[in-house]
Amino acid sequence: MKKIRCLVSAGPTREYFDPVRYISNPSSGKMGYAIAETARDAGWDVTLVSGPCFLKVPKDVRFVSVTSAQDMLEACKKYFIESDILIMSAAVSDVRPAEKSSRKLKKSEIDLNPRLERTPDILLTLSKEKKKQILVGFAAETENVREYALKKLEQKNLDCIVANCVSGEKSAFASDENDIDMIMRSGEIIDFKPASKIILASRIIEFLSVRFFGANAKPKSKI
Ligand code: C5P
Repeated sequence: MKKIRCLVSAGPTREYFDPVRYISNPSSGKMGYAIAETARDAGWDVTLVSGPCFLKVPKDVRFVSVTSAQDMLEACKKYFIESDILIMSAAVSDVRPAEKSSRKLKKSEIDLNPRLERTPDILLTLSKEKKKQILVGFAAETENVREYALKKLEQKNLDCIVANCVSGEKSAFASDENDIDMIMRSGEIIDFKPASKIILASRIIEFLSVRFFGANAKPKSKI
């Protein structure tokens, strides 16, 4: 049987305004790396495009290291064409400094009101190039999680979206645990129940296998 070709993005992006200073977020990459490893264990052919993370590079996956949202877009574009599914779990920075200095700025030179610009929306860009690929997004929200996630799914023309809360003690950022829902285009919501990111990765891959690739592609469950 042909292997399922899976492109996973993970971690934060960094948007530098000089060689040592940047805009980013606290994403650890744990969820995306767990997904990449689980998909590999399920026999999928995995490409992991990763922003800067402090995690071990998984074995037997094609690993592409990137820094900025622009880098991530270019890498994802390259591998998207030959993928069956894109799982976009990266926490892409929404903005970047409009100007970047090639040398370290002196403290007194730093603009205290820097002009920012939007980074490219990778999922939206790729959804316009979509042929048969399944697109899976992630939505990290601090409120109205399901409602905002569904809106995102529609705006970015996704097949489904993983919704998680990133406020207060329940924050998924950098944690080993998560509490997620899978939301489908139809509005159907599947509650994946709180668990470790390793177990949730297993539930996600199993769910995607059954829904989009037929039960034969089912991985061995760690649940
Ligand atoms: O719009 P928002 O950032 O909340 O959407 C989250 C989803 O979109 C995630 O899957 C994230 O990886 C993706 N995204 C993207 N490019 C961006 C911002 C987010 O692909 N510039």
